[in-house]
Amino acid sequence: MKTLIDNIGCLFGIERYGRLRLCGEEMGRMETLEEAWLLVEEDRIAAFGTRAEGVPTNVGRRIDACGGMLFPSFCDSHTHLVYAGSREQEFLDKINGLSYEEIARRGGGILNSADRLHATSEDELYHTAMERIREIATMGTGCVEIKSGYGLSTEDELKMLRVIRRIRESVPLEIRSTFLGAHAVSRAYRGRQAEYVDLVCNEMLPAVAREGLADFIDVFCDEGFFTVEETERIIHTGRQLGLRAKIHANELAVSGGVQVGVRGGALSVDHLECSGSAEIEALRNTNTIPTLLPGAAFFLGMSNPPAREMIRAGLGVALASDYNPGSSPSGNMRMVAALGSIRLRMTPREALCASTLNGAYAMGLSHDFGSITVGKVANFFLTRAIPSVEFFTYAYQTPLIKHVFLRGEELAHWDTLVACE
Ligand code: NIG
Ligand code: FE
Repeated sequence: MKTLIDNIGCLFGIERYGRLRLCGEEMGRMETLEEAWLLVEEDRIAAFGTRAEGVPTNVGRRIDACGGMLFPSFCDSHTHLVYAGSREQEFLDKINGLSYEEIARRGGGILNSADRLHATSEDELYHTAMERIREIATMGTGCVEIKSGYGLSTEDELKMLRVIRRIRESVPLEIRSTFLGAHAVSRAYRGRQAEYVDLVCNEMLPAVAREGLADFIDVFCDEGFFTVEETERIIHTGRQLGLRAKIHANELAVSGGVQVGVRGGALSVDHLECSGSAEIEALRNTNTIPTLLPGAAFFLGMSNPPAREMIRAGLGVALASDYNPGSSPSGNMRMVAALGSIRLRMTPREALCASTLNGAYAMGLSHDFGSITVGKVANFFLTRAIPSVEFFTYAYQTPLIKHVFLRGEELAHWDTLVACE
């Protein structure tokens, strides 16, 4: 069946050359077409063009975009959206002056979420995570990566990853799964970090690989968490089991995480609040993409990563939400793109490229997702008529998104389907 989206005021995010990511100043130049149409066949983008050149006839269904703008769906390459409970008590602690590290040292933070996850059934985890999936889908996200890392025992890590697999099997969003056993040392292994790393490498990773539960391996390589040497060992073990690395690096200190990620062939290194010219140099001419999480830096009141310097150095940059209960309790990618502009001084077009095509690259998905390209999956959303691309991130709180399409189908249909499940 063919669906024509006609009367599009502006089609944004066109990539005609099949580039898997855009780097440096190319990021600000994603192509647009004014007064356009887009043709969907089954679940794929079949064609697009301007109305002046002629609009396809003989289509099964015609949707009038009423002059609104069409954007490729957001690709959120870093989240922890399977979790139990919430952590607003720590929000209060932070308001009262405690730092993220102090809260973690007092047994809060990730260990707090691990306690709650342990006490929560797989079913309940699935249903609460599905609420978050529904929330981000209506806000324009079409692909999302989800990490484990609140289990911290073999059994609970597998429980989280099985929940992620169940989500993957039940939604039209494209899901990628990352094993993050080395998120923190569990309470049971307190003071025995080396033994915990052994557990991750010798027991957790083989079990995860045996069940085929993860696409990627992650490590929180930072001060007070895992060292460069431990990270190197864990990602090496992961790689032997077929898992490529995506590293949490340089959030709390200049940790060496970027360099260890690049050496280990990581697909992405994420956070990078504490980084400068050495990290930028390490990333040049590599396949590793820096992924910035401005929602976390904003929520925790941390410094900003050097996005402008990265772009000036010719790097491709991705933006992601880091949706999690401790440092970023929001998966709103439009807000993330706005923070990319407000806090990281990325232009709205650069921020949108970083949240779509470059985000897809950071999940190994940009051959099929992340831009308006003939042959890619038809994941996009329509806004009401707006004056410019820039307006979309500038007016970041105005509810502008009118229709969301995933795999060529309007999300409204999926919503009723899930509600009846
Ligand atoms: O990306 N930095 C490490 N992990 C998460 C936070 C997890 C938590 O506090 O629950 C992050 O910010
Ligand atoms: Fe994270």
